[in-house]
Amino acid sequence: MKVVGTQRSQVLASRIAGALGVEMAEVRFSRFPDGEHRLQRGALDRDTVVVGSVMDADSLVQLLLLLDACRESEVRLVVPYLGYARQDRAFREGEPVSARAIAGALGRGMVQAVTVHVHKETVLPYFNAPARNVTLEAAIAGYISGLGLTRPLVLAPDRGALAFARAVASLGGWEAEHLEKTRISGREVRMEAKDLAVKGRDVVMVDDIISTGGTLATAARMLQAEGARGVHAIGVHGVFTGGALDLLRTSGIREIACSDTIESEACRYSAAAAIADALSR
Ligand code: R5P
Repeated sequence: MKVVGTQRSQVLASRIAGALGVEMAEVRFSRFPDGEHRLQRGALDRDTVVVGSVMDADSLVQLLLLLDACRESEVRLVVPYLGYARQDRAFREGEPVSARAIAGALGRGMVQAVTVHVHKETVLPYFNAPARNVTLEAAIAGYISGLGLTRPLVLAPDRGALAFARAVASLGGWEAEHLEKTRISGREVRMEAKDLAVKGRDVVMVDDIISTGGTLATAARMLQAEGARGVHAIGVHGVFTGGALDLLRTSGIREIACSDTIESEACRYSAAAAIADALSR
């Protein structure tokens, strides 16, 4: 077995290869004069793990090309961040189910598909291949333990993330709670103040995706106004759209940590061991 990765998933791909104890196959990436992506892979074995997060159109095209280049081997597909998964249904008449379009295009002919904290597991059947979603509660709990906080409150920014916050908190023997979020627009959210007893306490917010940063920045400001001692933010996927990291830093968050499903300066823990485990089953 060998592991190959798209250009922006090379670091995680090599960590997965390390965790599996197998080699990486080299891939050379370039572009044609008109900007179209071009790639050339090195020698493969019979089984290949193809790793590629989908965070934009370029990463999607590269992943499709890499899958085609590997079509002669038995391919296990790892999509650490499955972009477009939030459009998991047609919210308005005439809209596509984007998750179905993307997962369907990627999953064709795969032996297995693996995602990490996919926004909703209901999209997994769209791969049309045996699919498994990996979650990183253990890695996140380990990261929080390393912060050395006394009695931290693990906080979900909305009700939808509460199960995730509870799973993390239970591993460390901490409390979990959630805020009430209403989305006003793509960048703006409103948080309902809740009586959470955060005064003088460290709060660790956890969420699956940090995109514009609007959710966590708004929550952080509210928590500080309520007297929280320190506010920390942990996301799984750091998309960090247009100045999100600056927004989060200026909102007073002490530490912003994400996994390596998307490479960024905020990567503090890895999804590699959990992905390797899913691939070995
Ligand atoms: C929403 O349901 C997700 O779980 C995240 O809360 C959301 O994607 C965060 O987006 P943003 O950083 O743009 O507020």
